[in-house]
Amino acid sequence: MTKLWTGRFAKETDHSLDVLNASLPFDRRLYRQDITGSIAHAKMLARQSIISEADGEAIVKGLQSILADIEAGTLVMEGAEDIHSFVEQELTNRIGDAGKRLHTARSRNDQVALDMRMYVKEEITKIHALLLDLIKVLCAKAREHLTTVMPGYTHLQRAQPVTLAHVYMAYGNMLRRDCVRLNNTFALMDEMPLGSGALASTTYPIDRDYVCEQLGFAKITDNSMDGVSDRDYCMELAADCSILMMHLSRICEEIILWCTWEFRFCELDDAFSTGSSIMPQKKNPDVCELIRGKSGRVYGDLMTLLSMQKGLSLAYNKDMQEDKEALFDVIDTVTHSLQVLIPMLDTMKIHEENMKQAALGGYINATDCADYLTKKGVPFRDAYRCVGELVAWCIERSCALNDVSLEDLQQFHPLFGSDVYEAIDLQTCVRERKAPGGPAPDCVKVQIEALERFVQKE
Ligand code: ARG
Repeated sequence: MTKLWTGRFAKETDHSLDVLNASLPFDRRLYRQDITGSIAHAKMLARQSIISEADGEAIVKGLQSILADIEAGTLVMEGAEDIHSFVEQELTNRIGDAGKRLHTARSRNDQVALDMRMYVKEEITKIHALLLDLIKVLCAKAREHLTTVMPGYTHLQRAQPVTLAHVYMAYGNMLRRDCVRLNNTFALMDEMPLGSGALASTTYPIDRDYVCEQLGFAKITDNSMDGVSDRDYCMELAADCSILMMHLSRICEEIILWCTWEFRFCELDDAFSTGSSIMPQKKNPDVCELIRGKSGRVYGDLMTLLSMQKGLSLAYNKDMQEDKEALFDVIDTVTHSLQVLIPMLDTMKIHEENMKQAALGGYINATDCADYLTKKGVPFRDAYRCVGELVAWCIERSCALNDVSLEDLQQFHPLFGSDVYEAIDLQTCVRERKAPGGPAPDCVKVQIEALERFVQKE
């Protein structure tokens, strides 16, 4: 393997070191950022007369041809320590001495810092776009299910009536915050580190702002030692993605429950389900389980990144090469999870009748029944107790509150009137929960519109 750092060494490095040291097997995914960054650097060097105009042009052309060949699949990225060495080596093979001038006023330390930031900015944008697609699907489905009543749960016990639209908007709001977190991470990391050199900048008259402008960063980094060793944004993205995966895992857990014969609230499309090798009847929600499982691996990546950096004195240390596999894994995992979850949710069939049947059992209108008495003047705590006794009585008889005759109801409280049946009807219970943020169809419509506006302005 050819090295960039020959000269001081009299001997070849041991093979075991080469294997440990190499990052090309994974950092080759940065080839486009590396080449684009190098083109900007070369143009700046020529503009500042640090290299000649002719060398600058030769470098830019050479780099462009390398990029084209990699993208065409005709240039295999191997035989170097990392992507930076590979590109420089290939450039020198192609254009000779001018290629050896590219690394003037630059170190691999600021080079890799630049490549990673460029890559992460692009990936944040892609994940953000996928998140918006997911929110759009949730909004569209919510519009279809504004009056699809289902039980809302606390402690996984049926609690109060909600609608599927309301549930979807709960997740929609989580994902909206995930988008905002990604925006914040992007804004904070949008700084251009090239020019930091190895750690102490450079004596050449470089123009960092020109490089910054060419590469579309908001500003240049303020301090060269921080510039080469800041990996906060890797951890921030991993933290953002950990929270996002936690949200996806919750949606998935919900769907896993809904797919059981016990719930039967929905059925996944065949294209997003798996079968069993032995049990012919099985249709399994593997996609959801995988996403739920993969959330843990993203949390692990976040821990890898935090642990990698915590003991490092300034400035660059080779430990930092470990940022890549962890962060790439975060990005790949989140991207694949979103890519499959979006069409899976879009094609999932909802069994509205089963949701309604579940809502009819479990006394989820008991609060409404107590509220009925309270609105007639009974103190809430007394009404609560009275309905508690009524529920216990119903459980003995295996009947719903709605099935109890008015006479029997009046044994529990004389203020029960015939209008109680309307008051505890599930549709009424949902329609009347109309405080802002509630499940009433009109309130959920407001929530959907707010999220649709958010998606539009993002
Ligand atoms: N492959 C290295 C990394 O990813 C590039 C920087 C190497 N710098 C150095 N001084 N060895 O961190």
